[in-house]
Amino acid sequence: MEKFIVKGRKTLSGKVRISGSKNSAVALLPAAVMTSEMVTLENLPDITDVRTMINILENLGVSIRRRGRDTIELKPGNLTKIAPAYDLVKKMRASYYFMGSLLGRFGQAEVPIPGGCDLGPRPIDQHLKGFTALGADINIEHGMIKLSAKKLTGARIYFDVVSIGATINLMLAAAAAEGKTILENVAKEPEIVDLANFLNAMGASVKGAGTDVIRIEGVKNFNGAVHSVIPDRIEAGTFMMAAASTGGKITVEDVIPKHLEAITAKIIEIGGKVEVEPESITVEYVSPLVPSDLKTFPYPGFPTDLQPPGMVLLTAAKGLSVITENVFDGRFNHVDELKRMGARIKVEGRTALIEGGVPLSGAPVTATDLRSGAALIIAALTADGESQISAVEHVDRGYDKFEQKLIELGAEIYRTSDDGILNLHSG
Ligand code: EPZ
Repeated sequence: MEKFIVKGRKTLSGKVRISGSKNSAVALLPAAVMTSEMVTLENLPDITDVRTMINILENLGVSIRRRGRDTIELKPGNLTKIAPAYDLVKKMRASYYFMGSLLGRFGQAEVPIPGGCDLGPRPIDQHLKGFTALGADINIEHGMIKLSAKKLTGARIYFDVVSIGATINLMLAAAAAEGKTILENVAKEPEIVDLANFLNAMGASVKGAGTDVIRIEGVKNFNGAVHSVIPDRIEAGTFMMAAASTGGKITVEDVIPKHLEAITAKIIEIGGKVEVEPESITVEYVSPLVPSDLKTFPYPGFPTDLQPPGMVLLTAAKGLSVITENVFDGRFNHVDELKRMGARIKVEGRTALIEGGVPLSGAPVTATDLRSGAALIIAALTADGESQISAVEHVDRGYDKFEQKLIELGAEIYRTSDDGILNLHSG
C-alpha cells in the first residue's frame, strides 16, 4: 500500500491548472455506448476512476484510442456485452451508470449491486424506481442487478431524494425511451448539465438540465460527437481552500467560476481574499481566519465533497465553527484522523463542532475516501512536523497528479511504498 510522507508548515503558493471533472467523466464514458459511431472525449482527467471506466468499456468490446494526454476516441460500434466485468465494476460505484446507458441502447443491462463506501449508506432505490417507471423489469439475484425492457416508454418521475446518480441514470435511459419523460426534483450539479450537453451533441433531446425539472424526448438513434469535459470544481475548491489553510496564495486556472460560487462565498466569509477572473480564481490567505457555520447541500449549495477540506480550513480559524453534513449520513470519518493531529472536533450526528485555532501536529493518519485523503494532506501541510498518510490510492481515484501539483505549489511530499520512496523531487 502506498503512503504520502508530508512535511509540515508549508505554505502553498502559485498557479495550478485544474483537470477535467471526475464526476462528469465517469458519467460521460458510460454514456458514449448510446451510439455506435465514433465519440471523442477531451479534457479527461488522468485518474484511476477514468482508467477503470476505460477498462470496463474495452471489456465490453468498445475500441478505444488515446489521442494525446487527455483525449480518447471511442468506437462503441461493436459492443458485444451487456454486463460490465464484475471485478472492474466493484472498484467504482459510478459504473452503475451502465444500467442507464446499456438499458437505453440494448433494452438490457446486468450490473453488480454497487458497494457502499465510507460515506454511510448509499441506496439506489431512486434509480430502480425510475427504471421501473420507464417499463424496465428488474431482478436482483446473486449480487447482480438485471434489468430488461422490451420497450422503454417515457414517464413522469418525481425523485423522493435529490440524487446525482439517479438523475444521471434516468437521463441516460430516458434519452432512448419512446416519447416524453419528465424528471422532477432532480440534481442540478454542473455535471448534470455537462452530460445533457453531451447527449444532445449525440442527437438526444434533453432540456432543463441544471433546473429542478428535466424534459426528455426519446430518440431512436444517436450519432457520434466530440465533447470536452468541464473542469473539476471539487479539485479547484480543494486547492482554493488549501491556499487559505496553509497561509498562501493560489490561482486555480481553467475553471468555471460560476461552479464555485458557494466555495468562493464561504472562503470570503472565513476571511480569505478572493479575486475572480473569467477562467481563474485566486485565493489569498489573510490573517486572522474567522470561524464559520458550514452546511452542505446539493448544488448550488456548498458541496459535500468539499466538507472535509472545509473542516481543515476551519481548524485554522480561531474560535468555534459548526459543520452540518446534510447530504450523507456518515461523512465524518476524517474527524478521527484529524483528531490524531490534535484537532479539537466533536461530532453529534450530522453536526461537527470545531474548536479552531489550535495548531495541528504531524501524525500517521489514514485516508478513508478520496476527499478525506485530500483533506488530510492539506492538514499535514499546515501541521508541525511530518505526517504519513496511508491508503493514498483513494486520492489517486479523483485527483490528477495531486502530489506533483502540490510540489509545484511549494509542498514537500513523497510517495512511498513498502519498497521505498517513489518520487524523489520535492518543493
Ligand atoms: C455523487 O454520488 C458523487 N459521485 C459523490 O462524489 C458526491 O458526494 C454525491 O454525488 C453527492 O454530491 C459521483 O458523481 C460519481 P447522490 P451519488 O445519489 O450520485 C441518497 C466524490 O468524492 N440517495 O446524489 O452516489 C444518498 O444516500 C464522490 O467524488 C438515496 O437515498 O450521490 C445520499 O444521502 C463521493 N437513494 C443522497 O441521496 C438513491 O437512490 C445523495 O446521493 C440515491 C441516493
